[in-house]
Amino acid sequence: MAIEMDARTHWEKIYKTKTPEGVSWYRPHLETSLALIQRAAPEFSASIVDVGGGESTLVDDLLERGYQDISILDISQTALAVAQKRLGSNAGQVRWIVADITRPFCRLHAYDVWHDRAVFHFLTAPWQRSAYVHTVAQAVRPGGHVIVSTFGPQGPTKCSGLDVVRYDDHSLHGEFGARFRLVDSSRELHHTPFGTTQQFLYCYCRLE
Ligand SMILES: C[S@@+](CC[C@H](N)C(=O)[O-])C[C@H]1O[C@@H](n2cnc3c(N)ncnc32)[C@H](O)[C@@H]1O
Repeated sequence: MAIEMDARTHWEKIYKTKTPEGVSWYRPHLETSLALIQRAAPEFSASIVDVGGGESTLVDDLLERGYQDISILDISQTALAVAQKRLGSNAGQVRWIVADITRPFCRLHAYDVWHDRAVFHFLTAPWQRSAYVHTVAQAVRPGGHVIVSTFGPQGPTKCSGLDVVRYDDHSLHGEFGARFRLVDSSRELHHTPFGTTQQFLYCYCRLE
């Protein structure tokens, strides 16, 4: 019988063995995410959390734009250490959180913007998705914004060796429910560093 690796062990192994540019989800800048965050929160004092931020350069770009209240959460300590090293002394301006987003994580109404690119689709068990949605609903202040990006209907069925769930805007919004008012959605063709393409879906909601 195959022994399933737990999520933390899996992601630590990925980040210990691959370079930042050697993973399919890499892109130099997360332009769509950045544009949506700026649309949701034009004020630089906005409190922003990037869930499953990994080694992505979104944090660099947010700091460069002038955002002052940024948290980066990831299950992998190694990924966050890479981002911290890249940022040098600017890393001190960011709150770094090593946590599993499917486990209780409670900061009540702490965030104006919740951003997730390519994490929610790894939650293949219903209990994981309910736990995630429960956490978002607690952690984002009413009136705040939730930006979630997953693989789209024509996206891959696996990523990083793990099964994923693909969504269209209707099914992704359905996971979150009526308190999350869908403001906008879009699809993006991501060009991986390996010359292939992957369809991503972005949903942008306002928490009532
Ligand atoms: C495909 S990568 C995307 C990284 C980044 N968001 C980007 O777009 O470049 C998925 C990220 O989610 C993190 N992750 C996976 N499961 C998680 C969980 N249950 N809780 C927190 N982070 C998780 C992984 O460590 C990894 O950094």
